[in-house]
Amino acid sequence: MTVDVTKTAAWADLAALHASFTPDLRGWFAEDADRAARFTRTAGDLHVDLSKNFLTDEVLDALVALADEVDLAGRRDAMYRGDRINVTENRSVLHTALRRPKTDELVVEGQDVIADVHEVLDRMYAFADKVRSGEWRGITGKPIDTIINIGIGGSDLGPVMVYEALKPSVQDGLRCRFISNIDPSDVYEKTADADPETTLFIVASKTFTTLETITNAKMARWWLLNSLRGRDIVTDAASQAQAIAKHFVAVSTALDKVEAFGIDPANAFGFWDWVGGRYSVDSAVGLPVCIAIGPQNFADFLAGFNAIDRHFAETPWAQNVPALMGLLNVWYVNFFGAESHAVLPYAQYLHRFAAYLQQLTMESNGKGVRADGTPVTTATGEIFWGEPGTNGQHAFYQLIHQGTRLIPADFIAVATPAHPISADGRDVHELFLANFLAQTKALAFGKTADEVRAEGVAEALVSAKVFKGNRPTTSIMAAALTPSVVGQLIALYEHITFVQGVVWGIDSFDQWGVELGKVLANQIAPAISSDDSALAAQDGSTRGLIEFYRANRGR
Ligand code: F6P
Repeated sequence: MTVDVTKTAAWADLAALHASFTPDLRGWFAEDADRAARFTRTAGDLHVDLSKNFLTDEVLDALVALADEVDLAGRRDAMYRGDRINVTENRSVLHTALRRPKTDELVVEGQDVIADVHEVLDRMYAFADKVRSGEWRGITGKPIDTIINIGIGGSDLGPVMVYEALKPSVQDGLRCRFISNIDPSDVYEKTADADPETTLFIVASKTFTTLETITNAKMARWWLLNSLRGRDIVTDAASQAQAIAKHFVAVSTALDKVEAFGIDPANAFGFWDWVGGRYSVDSAVGLPVCIAIGPQNFADFLAGFNAIDRHFAETPWAQNVPALMGLLNVWYVNFFGAESHAVLPYAQYLHRFAAYLQQLTMESNGKGVRADGTPVTTATGEIFWGEPGTNGQHAFYQLIHQGTRLIPADFIAVATPAHPISADGRDVHELFLANFLAQTKALAFGKTADEVRAEGVAEALVSAKVFKGNRPTTSIMAAALTPSVVGQLIALYEHITFVQGVVWGIDSFDQWGVELGKVLANQIAPAISSDDSALAAQDGSTRGLIEFYRANRGR
């Protein structure tokens, strides 16, 4: 039976606290010289300063009590153990098993999960070594220099984000590209300057049925074979099969469908139905990253996840970073009406991090019914969004600073840049960090009318220049953006998402809400080109749009 969180004593305590709560970050810091230290936590290599949140000792106690009342520990242990906590799909949720060391033991329903995981990892590592060393060659004997991943959602966003984040670790002479959109322009642009003789496609799809991915894979296959035919390299069925064998590999849970597509099962890397798409970058879905940065770095990446998994499993809630960040999000969403949450990395290499988090958080917690099928009793998943600082500062920060909405924000920064460069004798990374610190300071402490007046501002302009402050932020710092730290950041947000889902009583691991659109697209497709009876069956708006298309195609 799902606990109704709104009926818990801790919820009532939080409601009572909220009723008389006046955030006062200036006052709290002035009164308590230790506030920053008291509310700073460590998880793995992450230094997490929670002190600029709406956090007091009473709030902390109530949030911890809430975690206990919804049995967060029991739910977490059930997940780690392999219980079928994804109830609507009747599946285990075991992404934490993907990053456990070979020496660990985990047998679920008679299956040695750790052995299975490492069997695939070893194959991935061997394959990555072959591509990186040039031992794996294309049909004309040339080594691979371009890897094009074809996937969408979890089979795309994770690999893209991590590849971009770890670009400084990519082997010279190798590059990855990612095709996801079914808009043919995506395939066109990503293949336009690629050499078919040195390009390797990875078709990544958990189900191997996703329309976008299968269609893109067919277009890529056509591009490869057609280009090689044009060079008299593919001349018959045998050379065609050889070209596909040398230039296509697959990542999927559906190895029979991989074979039916024409990819040799020997060149397929499997994973399991207990890995959700948005939790899969640490499975074989990470293959392009593994090839690009190499097995040792990939192993470090996985070890980073595992460090946070252990922190989440072993640390009391009051010190537990994912638990506290998830509980604070609940505090903001359900008691302060926060509708969105910004994630603002001060690290250009994390420029796809917010896009990645959007699927992780919103596909997981965008739910209106609870795991037992009853309606949710309170607001659920907030909107996650963001861009790297300082770019965001010159775009949307205005709304966070002076707008009417409360937007909690996570700031992420590293101490050591990948490229220490100076300008006019000034360390540019330090200037960058100064911006990160300035923004969190301005958001927390603002600027009063008296401070504005003291600058000699005309009275008529004072109110426009006041910053109210009390905009909550969490600052996450690490020494450097290493493979391990990137793994730690991902695992941190996976567990934050899990914590929120447990509090709300929802199944964070299904995604039924994306199904209807897929079914309708298949029904509408015939109406678009020529099927008039299919067109007549559409609603008035859809029909009108199709008619516009038909009247304007090719113009
Ligand atoms: O559209 C939703 C979804 O099922 C995601 O959850 C998933 O990551 C994506 O589609 C791609 O699915 P697949 O890996 O099976 O192609």
